Amino acid sequence: MTRLSVNINKVALIRNSRGGNLPDLVKIAIDCEKFGAQGITVHPRPDQRHVRFDDIPKLKYAVTTEFNIEGNPTSDFMKLVIENRPHQCTLVPDPPGVLTSNSGWNTVLNQSFLKEVVANLHEHGIRVSLFVDADERMVEAASQTGADRIELYTGTFAHDFYTNKDLAVKAHKQCAFLANNIGLGVNAGHDLNLENLKFYKSNVLPLHEVSIGHALISDALYYGLQNTIQMYKKQLM
Ligand code: PXP
Repeated sequence: MTRLSVNINKVALIRNSRGGNLPDLVKIAIDCEKFGAQGITVHPRPDQRHVRFDDIPKLKYAVTTEFNIEGNPTSDFMKLVIENRPHQCTLVPDPPGVLTSNSGWNTVLNQSFLKEVVANLHEHGIRVSLFVDADERMVEAASQTGADRIELYTGTFAHDFYTNKDLAVKAHKQCAFLANNIGLGVNAGHDLNLENLKFYKSNVLPLHEVSIGHALISDALYYGLQNTIQMYKKQLM
């Protein structure tokens, strides 16, 4: 089974544009779960333009499925994660101010740093996933950090899907196979949508979880949140 974790950053972006509490992020998280989401993902960025640091304790209290916090492990981020103990922390190498995550860790160059961060999170009972490109060297080195999972960056796949989908998914298939053989779980995310998700899921095995934000929240404008979540889950069957 592949779990659908809904990334609610875009909802926070709308809320922040007016300064009030509409839409209510906590209510949206609870409703996503009611509508079938099997996890809630947030990505607090240093400028807090989406989910803010003070949203995290409220979400932690409200979320009853899997709570996943993504981000670059700065000291502020680590403090936030350790205080709120999500089920999973996905480490991403985003520099501050980047528009959206657009590449994974170099797990070879950052090996000792990641090892330390992973051990720290494990001490607090938090599962750790490392955001990586679909590159077998990065997967191999990810396993040496002690991480539990990788999250394959699917932005490039999503872009290339429209020209040659078999080629676009090839490295992802190989990385998932390798990850499974060396004891790493496999998550995926970025630019997954109603057009590419079923194909990705049927090729990348095993796939434990996808986290989807931008396309899902955009689709919800047309289909409504409840229908949209069900439509995405159908792609994962
Ligand atoms: N995974 C990571 C690490 C991300 O940074 C994001 C975007 O916040 C996603 C997944 C979800 O990507 P999208 O919003 O394109 O679905």
